[in-house]
Amino acid sequence: MTVPSLSKQDVENLRQDTAGVEELIHFNNAGTGLALKPCLTAVKDHLDLEARLGGYEAANVAKSDLDAFYTALAALIGCRPHEIAYVENATRAWDMAFYGIDFREGDRIVTGRSEYVSNFVAFLQMKKRRGIEIDIVEDDQDGQIDLKALKATIGPKTRLVALTHIPTFSGLINPAEEVGEIARAHKVLYLLDACQSAGQIPLNAREIGCHILSGTGRKYLRGPRGTGFLHVSDNVLDQIEPPFTDLQSAVWVDETSYELVPGARRFETWERYVAGQIGLAVATNYAIGVGMEKIGERICTLAGELRTALSALPGVALHDKGARKGGIVTFTVEGEDPQQTKHRLEQAGMNVSVSSASSARIDLPLRGLDSVVRASVHAFNTEAEVERFVKTLGTFTR
Ligand SMILES: Cc1ncc(COP(=O)(O)O)c(C=O)c1O
Repeated sequence: MTVPSLSKQDVENLRQDTAGVEELIHFNNAGTGLALKPCLTAVKDHLDLEARLGGYEAANVAKSDLDAFYTALAALIGCRPHEIAYVENATRAWDMAFYGIDFREGDRIVTGRSEYVSNFVAFLQMKKRRGIEIDIVEDDQDGQIDLKALKATIGPKTRLVALTHIPTFSGLINPAEEVGEIARAHKVLYLLDACQSAGQIPLNAREIGCHILSGTGRKYLRGPRGTGFLHVSDNVLDQIEPPFTDLQSAVWVDETSYELVPGARRFETWERYVAGQIGLAVATNYAIGVGMEKIGERICTLAGELRTALSALPGVALHDKGARKGGIVTFTVEGEDPQQTKHRLEQAGMNVSVSSASSARIDLPLRGLDSVVRASVHAFNTEAEVERFVKTLGTFTR
């Protein structure tokens, strides 16, 4: 099956809609995507409306734009709108589900080496609080989660399979669907951190088979900062009690009782960044309009080109793992601290970021790495930018 790709004109249109591309080369989309003009306009318009009418009144006027958030995110990840919650970031979205699971002493969590730092810290806290155990599944020879080992690790005490789809510190795309098949066969709850994959590659929660999926607005989806989302499937809603409740997530029935609202909105809070919700809906619909297959294809191809060009540079070492790789490219320059490389690139008008061992305790140090430079491309980036980037880096290694 051929994967559809973006035409030159499509890329040009993406650039027209991207603030900042004239000024710099933004290869830090895994940090924050460069602002999308239609999203920026929607956010500013709503802030203006709030200033003119008052915040509550503006939210009433914007009701259909707010509702569009649920349909947009549901369309993006292949679920139903009532299975989506608006949360302020991916971490809190993930937390709202994780801390809602009634872990008992001796329960086990199965995870992989690419798990996100905050998720792993939460596992450790749950271990301290409730006496759960953490099983780390090794990587296979390609560097992705070892599916055979995963099967062998899941046992009667396994309560949760938690996987980070695309780690923050590597080009790896974990085989989320295959993990889903295994979780399904063992009837285990499956929580997918899709923070880096949402907006980067096509996602379908039903096909993946995850019950819970968390994501952020500001990265590959190019929504506003301070926005995120949580998907909780209807099938597991009764297994997860929101760790916090408020007047949005629950109805106060009488002096002795409350009822949780139906669907995933029980994981929301009432007070929120309303303009952000509208903006993320706009950004998500924009990505859907362009086509996630095409966006994913472009990102993976461009990153592949960057890897190929970097591998030809003497003194540059690539560090991406995985049989399937996405838009994140990690490398180091011989004899140079990654922070210094980042700084020098910044001076040249090129944004990258650095991933450190402190965010990857069960991965980077095991590979003898303290930190790596992370260059993360998006569909609006160009081959010419890749060329300029590599050329600039080449001057550092001479
Ligand atoms: C894989 C992964 N999960 C979760 C997060 C946390 O996202 P947020 O900062 O929106 O809470 C990140 C952020 O870098 C991430 O890369």
